[in-house]
Amino acid sequence: MQSAVSVKDLKIAYGDHTVIEKMSIDIAPREFLVLLGPSGCGKSTLLNAIAGLQDITSGEVWISGKNVSWEEPKDRGIGMVFQSYALYPRMSVRKNLSFGLRVAGLPKAEIEARVARTAALLQLDKLLERRPAELSGGQRQRVAIGRALVREVDVFLFDEPLSNLDAKLRNELRVEIKKLHQRLGNTMIYVTHDQVEALTLADRIAIIRDGVIQQLASPAEIYRRPANLFVAGFIGAPAMNFIEGRIERSDGAAPVFLGNGLTIDLSSYSFRAVAAEGPATLGFRPEHLVLDGPTSGLPTIPGRVAVVEPMGSDAVVWFDWADQSLSLRLMGDVTLEPGDALAPGLDIAKASLFGADGSRL
Ligand SMILES: Nc1ncnc2c1ncn2[C@@H]1O[C@H](COP(=O)(O)OP(=O)(O)O)[C@@H](O)[C@H]1O
Ligand SMILES: [Mg+2]
Repeated sequence: MQSAVSVKDLKIAYGDHTVIEKMSIDIAPREFLVLLGPSGCGKSTLLNAIAGLQDITSGEVWISGKNVSWEEPKDRGIGMVFQSYALYPRMSVRKNLSFGLRVAGLPKAEIEARVARTAALLQLDKLLERRPAELSGGQRQRVAIGRALVREVDVFLFDEPLSNLDAKLRNELRVEIKKLHQRLGNTMIYVTHDQVEALTLADRIAIIRDGVIQQLASPAEIYRRPANLFVAGFIGAPAMNFIEGRIERSDGAAPVFLGNGLTIDLSSYSFRAVAAEGPATLGFRPEHLVLDGPTSGLPTIPGRVAVVEPMGSDAVVWFDWADQSLSLRLMGDVTLEPGDALAPGLDIAKASLFGADGSRL
């Protein structure tokens, strides 16, 4: 199948500062791709290069089977939504929505039909005669999204569209964007530094660090099988627990992980390749620990409760083990108190092991 968007061997540099080094990525038609990474990793640079707002040093950008590397933004068949919505303050919502179409010289009837369709889709019908100053932040951002949608193109690009909104509004609009994608079924490339947005919206997430894709996979795959230590530490809240140690094998026996007095049988861990030996990091999420360690038959990590953080439906228990603070997630009410002893069991089959170079074993 032809990709909706392809980036081929893309390089972008400002003078001798290279922001993106030889990046390639194919985005399928109807896919919701999220570009996720810390601030400054090159997400906006990449999105702007796809949009045509950013000069590329080398490489190509293809949209709908056409090399658009040198096309003007308006000729690329994309709609874009930015973090700061920059609506025209003196124009009504209707005029804000129709402005680009009027500039492009579309027939009046077509413009009216598109504005009506978009307004209905985003529940802006009753606000069409208002000016931006008479709208809430969420309504303004919906108008900004509407300005991209009226173009009725196949590919929409979003650059942190929810970052300026408060938490409640952000959650609401996030769900609206997902519904919008389900209804319109077009291709969306969505930049964020917020892992919740990435995990909830994406078909696939590209995790970027210093202009390099670290992992490109479904949210479930990225959460369960992070490709390296960076991805493992970046995704998940609270963050994955890490224990430094080493993997040892003796002839005929299953490999074991040794770390800080802990010995863990690795026979139920599915190594990607023949099990390595040597320095390794064991990573496990707070929910990979079960409270009843001794009766579970799992290897236990004994410690003492430091802090309990109730979070409504679940709670995070922080406990001290060796010289580290580890986290454990429990569903429902928690009766543990600071100072209580506990010996949670670790489900090694769900954990991740990383080799000396940081990649998943
Ligand atoms: N016009 C510019 N000139 C020089 N460096 C820039 C320019 N724009 C962005 N950069 C640099 O490129 C890197 C990536 O920036 P950006 O794509 O905005 O990151 P993100 O969107 O992931 O936060 C940063 O190190 C930033 O300082
Ligand atoms: Mg950015």
